[in-house]
Amino acid sequence: MNLKSTYTLNNGLEIPRVGFGTWQTPDGQVAVDSVLAALEVGYRHIDTAAAYNNESGVGEALRQSSLPREEVFVTTKLWNSERGYEKTLAAFEVSMEKLGLEYLDLYLIHWPAAKGEPQEWQKTNADTWRAFEELYEQGRIKSIGVSNFMPHHLKPLMESAKIMPMVNQIEFHPGLLQEETAEFCKANDILVQAWSPLGSGRLLENKDLKSIAAKYGKSTAQVCIRWCLQHGSLPLPKSVTPARIKENADVFDFELGAQDMALIDAMPNVGGSGLHPDKVEF
Ligand code: A2P
Repeated sequence: MNLKSTYTLNNGLEIPRVGFGTWQTPDGQVAVDSVLAALEVGYRHIDTAAAYNNESGVGEALRQSSLPREEVFVTTKLWNSERGYEKTLAAFEVSMEKLGLEYLDLYLIHWPAAKGEPQEWQKTNADTWRAFEELYEQGRIKSIGVSNFMPHHLKPLMESAKIMPMVNQIEFHPGLLQEETAEFCKANDILVQAWSPLGSGRLLENKDLKSIAAKYGKSTAQVCIRWCLQHGSLPLPKSVTPARIKENADVFDFELGAQDMALIDAMPNVGGSGLHPDKVEF
């Protein structure tokens, strides 16, 4: 396995097993340089979002890399304020314009509900999904999915959907297994992507993870990423630092033993963002 190894989505599309995260990466030169560094190391999967405000920098890096379009898997996400049928279609065009792409590999509904729509969220998701399905059928998007959805958000969406979601991108890292959601996704052939696989950096000084990492001669970050892979999820580590970008890709030459996996699984709830999909303030 290497950076170009893939998972196969439920529609047959291949998706590289490790993606390059860009949440909190500032737009402009930092975004361009870090995405170019990732592509240089061999990442072939870049994850952004309208809300990250760096789609332009990501698009610029893709152009500067001169890689053939079909060699890089690109994901972006629909922001909360743009949910609903018409608004989704318009927001998609804005993202595509910023990215400078003809087609997108994966489009995700960023959160299952926005602040202030406690009654309406199921209908809004169904309407948004109809727009996703249309764009998918037109070939503008190669795969569609959701983010931060729990089973009680996924079930109503799947009941009204013609096309089942292919991906659910959730916060997933040591200390936050989200078992119920992960199991629901597995049972329904929905790939789990892991945002903040390093707990946004909060896990890196954890002493239990550090001692496991030392045993394998690897870094704590590499152990977190490897743990995600061994759970069958798709980690999206973020960094703007070239040495770390390289380090985070070097996760294919070791395997965590069953005992260490179990030790990490049993870790108490640490490193979490504290964001709950039903209580978002945005
Ligand atoms: P930076 O971008 O300044 O290099 P996550 O992917 O869980 O969201 O974590 C991202 C955070 O972890 C960022 O602050 C990033 O810093 C930091 N980070 C990413 N990779 C490593 C690494 N290999 N070693 C230490 N810190 C890292």
